[in-house]
Amino acid sequence: MPQPEPAAVIVDAEVAVVGAGAAGLYAALTAARAGARVALVSATPLAQTASYWAQGGLAAALDPTDSPDLHRKDTEIAGRGIVRRSAAQLLCREAPRAVRELEELGVVFDRNADGTFGLGLEGGHSKRRVVHAGGSATGRRVVRQLSAVVVEEPRIEVLEQARAAAPWTVDGRLVGIVLEDGRAIRARSTILATGGAAALWARTTNPPGSLGIGLMLARQAGAALADLEFVQFHPTAVTSIPGREGFLVTEAIRGEGATLLDANHERFVEELKPRDEVALAVYNTMQAQGTTHVWLDMRHVDPMSFPNVVGALRESGLDPATELVPVSPASHFCMGGVVVDLDGASTVSGLYVVGETACTGLHGANRLASNSLTECFVQGKRAALAGLDEPRLHVAPENPPVAAPIPAPTQATRDALWRHAGLTRDAAGLEQLRDDPHPLAQLVAECAILRQESRGAHVRSDFPEVDPALDGHHAVVRNGGAPTFERWT
Ligand code: FUM
Repeated sequence: MPQPEPAAVIVDAEVAVVGAGAAGLYAALTAARAGARVALVSATPLAQTASYWAQGGLAAALDPTDSPDLHRKDTEIAGRGIVRRSAAQLLCREAPRAVRELEELGVVFDRNADGTFGLGLEGGHSKRRVVHAGGSATGRRVVRQLSAVVVEEPRIEVLEQARAAAPWTVDGRLVGIVLEDGRAIRARSTILATGGAAALWARTTNPPGSLGIGLMLARQAGAALADLEFVQFHPTAVTSIPGREGFLVTEAIRGEGATLLDANHERFVEELKPRDEVALAVYNTMQAQGTTHVWLDMRHVDPMSFPNVVGALRESGLDPATELVPVSPASHFCMGGVVVDLDGASTVSGLYVVGETACTGLHGANRLASNSLTECFVQGKRAALAGLDEPRLHVAPENPPVAAPIPAPTQATRDALWRHAGLTRDAAGLEQLRDDPHPLAQLVAECAILRQESRGAHVRSDFPEVDPALDGHHAVVRNGGAPTFERWT
């Protein structure tokens, strides 16, 4: 006789947060400090998330010669004509406050001897604007400190080693989330902060878990996704060093004077151009010279400023203080994600999305370096507070759905994304990718097919020019349909 499904164990909270990277931790802390009971779901032990890997810092206009308006202009230039202005204005205005709030939570940022912030320079920034904590160990320091504060916060229940498996919706409203272990969280708002999908590409700087789980959960709940054709390739990921494939060498090192050299040991690009330009120049140089990498020359950069990069390379037998580092592009950050407004609200009531999982339009076609960590805090806070304005669940729903397995990519899918939706694409390759069994690979292909132009990180060899008619337009996938362009302001 078939056995009935055992009743799910239900955890009640006001806010459920899925993901314990920078954005999730900050959202959880904000909600708890506003008096809410929070359930925080973390697939890994706290402080081992993708944010932990972040070497870049927080972009914020803190220098006296800088301003939020200059920061916004740089964001828009890097984003190549489709940055949503309201999102950029908000981020750039709120960024300095986010830095101060993190300090209040105990994060110690690098400062100069005179007490001012030690601001780093990265591609596309017209000013020194990137705040670090421990140089290139910023992600690790910030996430460790926030995790320590979260653990001490009595209103936050941390569900460690737990994974979200399905959205729980009732009459079109999200009322919680079902976990893989059969438990379910019931909450008036749920915040997805599960990171991006860059590890779907075969060559990546991201941890293996960055597979777009949040995008698939949100889509299952009925939320719209956008801009999936825009994945940023980082120009300087280590290659040809066993055990370090894809290891990121932070752009901040180029900010301190490191150069990129071709096979003849000649410079071929201005190293601090926006990332799309530098990555494409590296790729084109490799193609033209028939090599698998270019060289990063950081021999004149102070190794003490980037201890974790230098340490990791030395452990692998290469001393960057005396030797050139072989690097090539790798998939790094998804500009697209779940469509949200400036409070992180998705198109499904009760569902909020923050960090790399979300798409506000801030990053346009090419994210300005280090805007994303700042965004985690600015948007994480806003989503937590907006979620508390959701109406309470007057009748507590029972019977969460039974979760179906979330599709995992095969190696063939990861290779296909790299091959057909890599640094350059064309219709023939994208049509093949559209037949891939993985749902996100299909959607990437559909958005990339729709965008018949080259813009930012999306380079179509069959449409090499920008189409000005598509300025401000985003490829949006709604209700399971095909993507269509929508203009965002
Ligand atoms: O190169 C980097 O440190 C990367 C920074 C970022 O992705 O923002």
